[in-house]
Amino acid sequence: MQIDKWLKKDLEFIWHPYTQMKEAKKFPPILIERAEGIKLYDEQGNFYYDTISSWWCNVHGHNHPKIKKAIKKQLNSLEHVLLAGFTHRSAICLAERLISIAPKNLTKVFFSDNGSTAVEIALKMSFQYRKNLGEKKKKKFISLDRGYHGDTIGTMSVSGIDLFNKRFSSLFFSSFKIPSPYCYRCPVNKSQGNCLTECIKPMESLLKEKAPEITAIILEPLLMAAAGMIVYPQEYLKKAAALAKEYHVHLILDEVATGFGRTGKMFACEYVNGIEPDFMCLSKGVTAGYLPLGITLTTDKVYKTFSADYQENKTFYHGHTYTGNPLCCSAALASLEIFEEEKTLFKIKDTIPLFHRGLERFRGLPLVGDVRQLGLIGALELVKDKKTKRGFDFKERIGLEVYKRGLKRNLILRPLGNVVYLWLPLCTKRNELEDILDKTYQVIESL
Ligand SMILES: Cc1ncc(COP(=O)(O)O)c(C=O)c1O
Repeated sequence: MQIDKWLKKDLEFIWHPYTQMKEAKKFPPILIERAEGIKLYDEQGNFYYDTISSWWCNVHGHNHPKIKKAIKKQLNSLEHVLLAGFTHRSAICLAERLISIAPKNLTKVFFSDNGSTAVEIALKMSFQYRKNLGEKKKKKFISLDRGYHGDTIGTMSVSGIDLFNKRFSSLFFSSFKIPSPYCYRCPVNKSQGNCLTECIKPMESLLKEKAPEITAIILEPLLMAAAGMIVYPQEYLKKAAALAKEYHVHLILDEVATGFGRTGKMFACEYVNGIEPDFMCLSKGVTAGYLPLGITLTTDKVYKTFSADYQENKTFYHGHTYTGNPLCCSAALASLEIFEEEKTLFKIKDTIPLFHRGLERFRGLPLVGDVRQLGLIGALELVKDKKTKRGFDFKERIGLEVYKRGLKRNLILRPLGNVVYLWLPLCTKRNELEDILDKTYQVIESL
C-alpha cells in the first residue's frame, strides 16, 4: 500500500530519463530504500546487485564509510562557494591529485558538474584555442560513428548513436564522422586475429585532406560504452594519437565512462604507453558515484593561449553554478584515498581473470554472437543467427525481456540494443561475481 502510494506520486510528478513514460505504469520504477556494497535494497527488503554501477559511476560500493565521513566533514565547514574569484581547499587538493595521476602532459584542471559538460568544455576550449592563435579555419571535429559523449547539443554533435540523436541533427554543428573500430562487425571485413587496424585509414585520409579545417579528434579510449561496449584494439588508439600529433590536431579523450579503474587501469588511455592527450574528460566514477562532478584536464600549451591581457578577450567564458562544489570534491578525494588504502587496482587484478573466464562460458549459448571484456566491463552481443550475425529488430524488444528476467534474479541488466552488459563496481567480491555470472547465464539461456 505504502509503495503503491509512492509510485503513484512518482508517476504523477517525475519524468524519468531514457524511459518511455507511457509504459511506466506497466513497468513502474523500483523504489529503492537503501544500499550497501554492491546491493540495492527495495522497501520490501528484496535486493538487486548493482550490476551496472548505477549508470557506470559506483566504484567502491554503496554506503562506504570513508566517503560518507568525508562528505559530512566537508558539510560541517562549507557546502558551496562559487569558483570564480573564490576557491577552497578540496578543489585545490583534488586538482593536484588528479594532475598527479593523469598523463604527465596534463597540468590544468577545469571543473564542471557532469560528463556532458566535461566534454563540452573540451570541445569549446579546443575551438577557442584556435581562435586565440588566429587559426581561423581549424574549427571542425572528427568523431566516431556510434560514439557517445553526452546528451547536450554540443556533445550530440560529436556523437553517433542515431537512436538518441538523429531527430536533433538539424541543431548540430557539423563534424566529420568516421566508422568505428567495431571488431565483431569489422568495417574493413577482417577476421578477428587478422587485424592490422586498417580501420584507422578513414581517419588518416580525412586528416591528410582536411587537417587545416580540423581542431580535434574526440575518442572514448578503448571502449565505446553506449555503442554497446565495443572494445577496440589498443593499436587503434595508439595510431589515432600518433595521427593527431602528426597533423597538429588535438586529441580529446573522453574517459567519463572508462576512468577510475573500470578497465583495470586508473584510466583506459594508460594501456597505450606514453599517450599524451590534449584534453581528458572525467566524471561518473570521479566521486565513486556519490555526487556529480565533471573534470576537463588540459595542457599548459592550451592554457597559455587563454592567458592574456583582459582587453584581448581571450578569457574562457564558461562556468556552471556548481562548478567544483566542495562536497563533490571531498567525495572525489576520499575515493582516491580509498584506491590507495584498499589497493583497489591491485585487488581487481585477481577479479578480472575470473570475470574473463566466466564470460567466455557464454560463447556456447546459441544467442550469444560476441563476448567482449575490458577490466570489469563485460558485454554479450545477442544475435538471431550466429553465422549471419543478424541481430534482433528494435521492435522485438529483446532488451526488455532481458531486463525483466534479470530483475527476477536480483540483477540489473539494461541492455544497449542487443548488447547485454555487466559494469561491475570494483569492490565486487568473488562469490558475488560468481553469483552474478551464474544468474546472467540463466537469463540468457532462458531466452
Ligand atoms: C563516454 C561518455 N561521455 C560522456 C557521457 C555523459 O555523461 P553525463 O551523463 O554525466 O552527462 C557519458 C555518459 O554515459 C559517457 O559514457
